[in-house]
Amino acid sequence: MSCIDKRAVVTGGLGGIGTAICQRLSQAGAEVIATCHPAEIDQIDAWVQAQQDKGAKICVVAGDVSTAEGGAALIGKIVEQFGAVDILVNCAGITRDTTLKKMTAEQWDAVIDTNLSSVFYVTQPVWNGMIERGFGRVINISSVNGQRGQFGQTNYAAAKAGMHGFTMALAYEGAAKGVTVNTVSPGYIDTAMTAAMRDEVREAILAGVPMRRMGTPEEIAHAVAFLADDASSYITGANLPVNGGLFMH
Ligand code: CAA
Ligand code: NAP
Repeated sequence: MSCIDKRAVVTGGLGGIGTAICQRLSQAGAEVIATCHPAEIDQIDAWVQAQQDKGAKICVVAGDVSTAEGGAALIGKIVEQFGAVDILVNCAGITRDTTLKKMTAEQWDAVIDTNLSSVFYVTQPVWNGMIERGFGRVINISSVNGQRGQFGQTNYAAAKAGMHGFTMALAYEGAAKGVTVNTVSPGYIDTAMTAAMRDEVREAILAGVPMRRMGTPEEIAHAVAFLADDASSYITGANLPVNGGLFMH
């Protein structure tokens, strides 16, 4: 796969899936910039070194994507320091699982702001440049639970389903301009996010996965690299499931 001479930005780049995406796009020849939450600043040096040990030179820029000001400032810094963005992977995300009857407005807002509104805040500042240059790839990391719902995740399922609505609508706006917009919907993947679940809940969910295992971050990164590839130019508005058969439609 080839992303040579392309500059890629991966939000949530220091997370489990984000790290694998950064590595994979770098292997495909892209210049990769990972973004992280300001709370992760003290992890940057060790993370950059770990990527370098695996052969990838990846820079990191910190910024909170869950606010309009944070997203705009983050992309402003990246464009000033590195130049125009060709590939954007919206991967930052959080969960605040609880049943609707117990959910607070803060838990609702945090999940909607971080998973869904962030996609608007970060994509809008790179969009015009992609359209003007006649090339762009926007890839949104949604979830199987945005496709099928999940007990205790009204906030997260709403945000992740909303991401794909955004994908489809924006795909129309980019279609005649060389800019594709797609969604990848992972199933349960082995990262800190799933490690935080109660063991018995995780085991019960895995028992229902036809492949009987979690996915790996590398399996998600492979799908992202495929959509980012120069040759994937006729795929837009798609939602690519990578879920071990957990949800088929
Ligand atoms: N289906 C039906 N009923 C359920 C249920 C389920 N999956 N889970 C719990 N219940 C029932 C319980 O039996 C209980 O019933 P009673 O009141 O009649 O006894 C009631 O709901 C309350 O259950 P809990 O005490 O477990 O409620 P809780 O508030 O403590 O826990 C929860 C709720 C934490 C959300 C828990 O249900 C849960 O962990 N659900 C799974 C959420 C999940 O899959 N998260 C994925 C995180 S990773 C991720 O999101 C990545 C991705 O994109 C895939
Ligand atoms: P993860 O390891 O927790 O990574 C998420 C990353 O997003 C973290 O580095 C996190 O930083 C960052 N982030 C959170 N809020 C942010 C903010 N406001 N601004 C900037 N960065 C922020 O989880 P993951 O499993 O790799 O998840 C990556 C994406 O895949 C998420 O969108 C998730 O919803 C999605 N996904 C995951 C799974 C799964 O099973 N793991 C399945 C489907 C979809 P902090 O650590 O500081 O919070």
